Order: sequence, then C-alpha cells, then structure tokens
Amino acid sequence: MKKDFSKISFLSLFLLFSVAPQLIQARKNNSQMLTVKSTTFETNNTKMRRGINIGNALEAPNEGDWGVVIKDEYFKIIREAGFDTVRIPIRWSNHAGSVPPYKIDDNFFKRVDWVVNKSLEQGLITIINIHHYEEIMQKPEGHEDRFLALWKQISEHYRNYPDTLYFELLNEPNGALTSDIWNKFIEEAVSIIRETNPTRKIIIGPADWNSVYKLKELKVPEGDKNIIVTFHFYTPFEFTHQGAEWVSPSPPVGKKWIGNEAEQKQITDELDIAVRWATEHNNISLFMGEFGAYSKADMASRVRWTYFVAREAEKRNIAWAYWEFCSGFGAYDPVKNEWREDLLNALIPPPNKYYVSVDTEHGSILGSGWYNEGSYATIKISETSLGFLVQDVFDHFEGLGSRDIVIDARTVKVYVNGPRIIRAVWRKDYTMALLTTLGVGIILGVAILLYKMQRFSLLSVDFRNATLHSSLVLFSLHTFLRLGSLKLKQQR
Ligand code: BGC
Repeated sequence: MKKDFSKISFLSLFLLFSVAPQLIQARKNNSQMLTVKSTTFETNNTKMRRGINIGNALEAPNEGDWGVVIKDEYFKIIREAGFDTVRIPIRWSNHAGSVPPYKIDDNFFKRVDWVVNKSLEQGLITIINIHHYEEIMQKPEGHEDRFLALWKQISEHYRNYPDTLYFELLNEPNGALTSDIWNKFIEEAVSIIRETNPTRKIIIGPADWNSVYKLKELKVPEGDKNIIVTFHFYTPFEFTHQGAEWVSPSPPVGKKWIGNEAEQKQITDELDIAVRWATEHNNISLFMGEFGAYSKADMASRVRWTYFVAREAEKRNIAWAYWEFCSGFGAYDPVKNEWREDLLNALIPPPNKYYVSVDTEHGSILGSGWYNEGSYATIKISETSLGFLVQDVFDHFEGLGSRDIVIDARTVKVYVNGPRIIRAVWRKDYTMALLTTLGVGIILGVAILLYKMQRFSLLSVDFRNATLHSSLVLFSLHTFLRLGSLKLKQQR
C-alpha cells in the first residue's frame, strides 16, 4: 500500500511532463466497389483466377544459378493447393544468338518444353514470358529485331500447343523502353504472334515496371479479343521490398503492414485505377501478374497484406499470380518440402477460416493463426514489462469487440467472425527512473551535508564510508521496490 502511494505521487508529478495522446480521425472510405465485367479469361472451361510464379528458375542467367531448379512434382503440388495458373518467367535472351537470326538454343527450348508440358499436364493455365531482357531496357531500338525474332521463334514453336498456354510479351518494361517505344513493340510482336497463333491469349502490360500509373499510356492492339492486360503490385514498396538486396537503396527492414484504414485505402485506390482504366477499355481482362512481400518482412504482416491484396483483387475480378513459389518470397519451403501454411492460406483461404494476429511492439504472442469462423482464439502476451529504468509495460489489448472475452491482464479470447487484428498497447513506466533519481539526490544531499559538517568540524566521520553505506541502503531499497513491483505485476 505504502509503495503504491509513493508510486502514485511520483507518477502524478510525471504526468505534468507527459504528452497528450493524439486522436486519430479515421477517414471514412466511401468509395464504391469497382469490378471488371469481362469473362474472357475462360479457355476450354478453365478459368484463370489464382496463380503463382515459379520465379528465380528459368529467368536466372542459367537455371539453378539463383537456387531454383524446376521439379516435376511442383506442378502437382501447386494444383493440389488450389492454384489454377502458373507463370513461368524465362530469360530467353541468354539462350539465343546475338546476331540474326537470333536462334534460340535447341536444348533450352527442350527444357522449356518439358516445364510447359508438366504444367499443362496438370491442367494449369501456363504463362510463359520474356523475363529479364535487361539489354532491351537500356537500348530498346538496338534490340527491337531480336525481341521480335524471339517471339517469332517462340510462337512458331508452340503454335500447336493447347490454348491454356498463354504468352506474355515482356516482364516489366522500364528504363529507356518508354511507353511510346513499347506500344510500337507490342503492336509488332502481337502481329507476328497472330501469324501462327490467331487466338492464343497474349498478355501485355504497361511501362515503368508494369505500373498501374502507366496504364493510361498503354495502347491495346485494336479488335483483338484475346488480349489480357497485366500489372504488378508491390504497394507499399517500403514494406514489400524491405531488405531486398537487389534494390538500391534497399528499404530498411522492420516495416509492418497492419491493415488499418489508410493502409487498405492505399491498396484499393491503386487497384481501382486499374479497374477504372479497364472499364474504359471494353472491360478488358486484368491480370495482377506479380504481387508479394519479401521474406525479410515479418510473417504476420506478410499474411495480412497478401490476404488483403488477393481478396481485393478477386472482388474486382482481377486474376492474380503470387510472386513467387519457392525462393525469397516463397509460399513453399523447398527444404522442408511443404507449404508455408500461413502464406498459402492467405492466398487460397481454407473455407470459413480467418487469420487472427496481434500487433505488438514488444514481447511475443501465443495463439495467433488461422481459426474457424465462429470459434474463439485464445491470445496471450508473453511478457508484460521490459527495460530497467524506463520500463515498457503492457497495458491492454485494443481492437476488442463485444463478443471477445478478457480472461486476465495478459490473455484474451478473440471471437473469429472474419480476419482479426488486435493491438497490444504498451505504456512507458518511469517509476524506477524516478526512484533512482530520488535516491541519487538523497545520497548527494547526505554526502554534501556530511562534507560541510566535517569541514566546519561539527562532525568527525569517515566521509567515504558514510557515503558508501547510505548508497548501499538506497540500492537495497531500490531493489526491494523493484522486486515488489515485479511480483505485483505477475500476480495481476
Ligand atoms: C523480378 C524479380 C524480383 C521481383 C520482385 C520480378 O519481376 O523479376 O527478380 O524479385 O520482381 O522485385
């Protein structure tokens, strides 16, 4: 009791210096849902909806250079997980002559055939593209003929393949390959492909790394019903690419994605740019050919972001392909030979299951994960205070609803009626800092007093011993109070 009283008085002093909490005015999102109406995705009753990129394999300088060699079983694993589409990035430019006729290496073609066949055998819509043709981004005109020669050979080679094989002209045009030049290349490449593949689906995307903001500059070949438009989605880039070694400067790690209103709006606004553009262009089919968050971001944020982006795309009839299968963004763990369950669930949600997670600055959380709708998730925070002089003390859980049940100061039962995110609120506790300051003040005061008394010969004491003793007394008092407060917290 006594201790509590002293704490209260110290704390009330401290309140004078505390900062008033900021009120965040949540912005209301009144935007209406936009959707693309087109159904041209359908091929032989197969619908492109949910896909995955087998990245870092055939678009590496040589397959295996970036740690991924495509295995036969991957396609079955992918189909059985619920995907209907696979996008296979391919660096043809490394396996073709540099002078006319720019012949593609026969062995490389054989390897791609094997991969494409395995994928088609599993009934997957299979997209092949030209990926990492870096030279064309620097000197587009110098590579125009070669680019077209590549498509002439690829399209002739696959002319008799099922219509579930799709062609994507070029991954992420950027640099000197501006919209004007790119539009011309699109027209030329599409007309070459149409000589041998009159109705095959061809995917084209805007300049500036397939940015939605460049859709307005994209020219879609007229009168062709089998064109799909792609864009890539990595917003916010500081989150999805944190710690990415291939980005300079690399965004710092530690950025979370909680899914608050502002974060959600940033995503839906961008998706709506694509949908608005598509509705102005005959409801052309949209394909979000890459989206994903790098493994340096925390898993809970990746799951929340991936789930949100995928669901928002689906609501708008946008087909998608996650970046990527088993490498740095991987939804599949190639060492354990198993899916990273949380990410897979975010992409292909199990029926009636939702992700419950907690955003906390400190400590660890027990109980976050996927739960059945209508059940309760028991969430417990492991630590309740951290630090020495200024302590971070767990205060309460925020974001609870009327059906949630508080069990004790660190445990709550969360009712699962959709994706749930609970926030653990921590506050600063200055009690120890105050006690220590006070103790040091008293020691100094006593020392000065003793010193003065000794100086004026009022007292004859061993000054150093006295200071030492009083320090020891105060230190013991401090430790006693600290232990007492810890015990109290544990009991709560
Ligand atoms: C690139 C990859 C990269 C990914 C995410 C892809 O288009 O080809 O190398 O990892 O985007 O940045």
